[in-house]
Amino acid sequence: SAAEKDGHDWFMRKEIHEQPHAVADSLLGRRTPEGLLHLDEMRLTDQELRSIDKIIIIACGTSFYAGMVAKYAIEHWTRTPCEVELASEFRYRDPILTPSTLVVAISQSGETADTLQAIRHARTQHSRVLAICNTNGSTIPRESDAVIYTHAGPEIGVASTKGFLTQLVACYLLALYLAQVKGTLYGDEIGNVLDQLHEMPDHIQRVLDGEQQVYDLAKEHTGSRSVLFLGRHAGYPVALEGALKLKELAYLHAEGFAAGELKHGPIALIEQDLPVLCVVPPQGRDQLREKMISGIQEVRARGARTICLVEDGDEAIAPYADVLIRLPKVPVLLQPLVAVVPLQLFACELATLMGHDVDQPRNLAKSVTVE
Ligand code: G6P
Repeated sequence: SAAEKDGHDWFMRKEIHEQPHAVADSLLGRRTPEGLLHLDEMRLTDQELRSIDKIIIIACGTSFYAGMVAKYAIEHWTRTPCEVELASEFRYRDPILTPSTLVVAISQSGETADTLQAIRHARTQHSRVLAICNTNGSTIPRESDAVIYTHAGPEIGVASTKGFLTQLVACYLLALYLAQVKGTLYGDEIGNVLDQLHEMPDHIQRVLDGEQQVYDLAKEHTGSRSVLFLGRHAGYPVALEGALKLKELAYLHAEGFAAGELKHGPIALIEQDLPVLCVVPPQGRDQLREKMISGIQEVRARGARTICLVEDGDEAIAPYADVLIRLPKVPVLLQPLVAVVPLQLFACELATLMGHDVDQPRNLAKSVTVE
C-alpha cells in the first residue's frame, strides 16, 4: 500500500530517499570514546589482520560494484593488494588462496548462492572470510569468520539502492580499520575521513533535493534505445552501476565504460543524440578530471548528448555539457556515495514513465539462491 511506501509509488523510490538515514545508521557507534574505529563483529584479532597480505573481494551484481569501489579505498589506505572478482567466476579458476588471504564477501541478502559457494571454497583453503551483509543471521555471515553488518533496514525493491550505499560505507570502514591496525594511516587521518563520512548523509540529502531535474531528464529520454555511462577511478564502478540500473528497470541497452577505454573501442558506438552520462572526478584530482573532460569533448564532437555529473563550482565542463547535474564537493574516494544517487533516480523514473514495474522487474529476483 501507499502507507508502506511512505507515500511513494515504489519501494525503490522510498528506499532511495531513505539513503541519508541508512548511511547515518551504518556509521553509528563505530567510534570508541578514545576516537578509535571499532567494528562490533570483527572477530579477527589485530594479529590475524596484520598477517593479511592479500584481499580478494567477491560479490555479484550491485554488490560487486561496491567491491570495485572498495578496492580503490583499500589499496590507497592500507597498501595491501586487493582484487575484486565476480563470485560466479571465483572458484572455477583455481584462485590462489592462503591463510594470509582475507576474502571479503559482499552480499545485501546474505543468501546469494554464487557468493556462498565462493566463501565455502575459500574456507577449504583456510583463508579468512569477512562478510559485509545487510541481513542479520543470514547464511553468508553465519559461515564467515567476521561480519560488518550494514544498517540499511529491509530492502524490498529488487534493484539495490540503499543496500549499495551502505555497502560502500562498510567498505570504507573496513579499509580504515585495516589502516588503523596496520598503521598505514595516522589516527588523525582516519579521524578526518570518518568526519567526512559523517557529512555524507547531508550531501546525499542535497542530491535528493534536486531530484526534479533528474525526473525532467528522464522524461526527455523515454524514447532512447541505448544509454552509455562513463567514469574514471571510483567513478568507473558508478558508471557500471548506473548502466545496470537502466538494464534492470527500464530494460534498455546500457553500458558503463572506463572513460580512458573510449578510444579503444566504445567510441565507435557514438552516434547523433546518443545520451552519454559522465561521472566527472572532483576538482583537486586534476589529472583524472582533465582526461575525463577530453573524453567528454570527444564524444560530444561525434554528436553524443553529454549529461555530466560534476562537483559544485566546477565550471570547466560547462562548455561541453548538454546537461549539468551538480554534486556536492566531496573527496574522490567518497564521490560514489553522491554520484550514484542521480543515476538511481534516473532509472527509477525512466522505468516508471515507460510503464514498467520498478519493484519487480521482469526475470529478476531479489536474492538469487541458485548458482
Ligand atoms: C540479485 C539482485 C541484485 C543484487 C544481486 C546480489 O541479482 O537483483 O540487485 O545486487 O542479486 O545480491 P546480494 O544480496 O548478494 O547483494
